Amino acid sequence: MAKLNIKNIERVERLNRMEGLLETRKLCKDYDGLEVLKNINLSVGKQEVLVILGPSGCGKSTLLRCLNGLEPIQGGEIFLDGKLISDLKTNWCLIRQKIGMVFQNYELFPHMTVLENIMLGPVKVQKRTYEEAKQEAFKLLERIGLVEKSRAFPRQLSGGQKQRVAIIRALMLNPEIMLFDEITAALDPEMVREVLDVILGLAKSGMTMIIVTHEMQFAKAIADRIVFIDHGEIVEQNEPEAFFTRPKTERASKFLAHFQFGGN
Ligand SMILES: Nc1ncnc2c1ncn2[C@@H]1O[C@H](COP(=O)(O)OP(=O)(O)OP(=O)(O)O)[C@@H](O)[C@H]1O
Ligand SMILES: [Mg+2]
Repeated sequence: MAKLNIKNIERVERLNRMEGLLETRKLCKDYDGLEVLKNINLSVGKQEVLVILGPSGCGKSTLLRCLNGLEPIQGGEIFLDGKLISDLKTNWCLIRQKIGMVFQNYELFPHMTVLENIMLGPVKVQKRTYEEAKQEAFKLLERIGLVEKSRAFPRQLSGGQKQRVAIIRALMLNPEIMLFDEITAALDPEMVREVLDVILGLAKSGMTMIIVTHEMQFAKAIADRIVFIDHGEIVEQNEPEAFFTRPKTERASKFLAHFQFGGN
């Protein structure tokens, strides 16, 4: 057992030493004096899948929003590919093309078809040609099984289909890393699988990802590393097998016990 633990620690340390694609140093965030994130040091290596777990209100969504420049931070730094992006000079519109994000509630434009929704960014923001963007759109629609819905409006889609369109929309910008914030939380149970399968496919293709989820089985299956946050602090980082069977901290044990008894 001791040997295994040392191996796990070595693995986590190796991942930490990997050249971080996205890194934070002592990131702090507060809302009007309420400290929500405290000295967060996070590093995601290229092609790594990091899953963030933690109780409701611990700061998971806030962390993802900070990484994507949707929330200003009050302390610390964020680096993408070794370049500081948390300063005032940063063009977040450019950075958000490299750091894609998908939310719980899809946020598709209701008056646009699926194809229009997913073409908007590449054509309007990235100024790619309509033809080239359309070709890529159909490649992705095919890969994710939605070609026949290209002309549908969001209201004509199921929740799972809408969420898959939202994922395609983010992928269309060719991001270097994807952030997912509880993207199955608003779905009926029978649609959760189709969305999680897309994420599993992305992991296999080598996409770097940070995933916030309450789907514990999925977290265990997909994560290279689990980051457990409580009250705005990283309490534990571990490989999935060890985290779920032998958590290092009492706070993580309590969190996992709560899940075993059906809480969330
Ligand atoms: N815009 C805001 N203004 C003020 N406080 C906020 C704001 N957004 C979040 N908070 C607070 O920050 C803390 C962290 O919230 P956050 O949404 O990041 O938690 P979470 O871990 O994503 O929770 P959940 O699992 O329920 O989604 C909470 O105390 C929340 O009330
Ligand atoms: Mg949240």
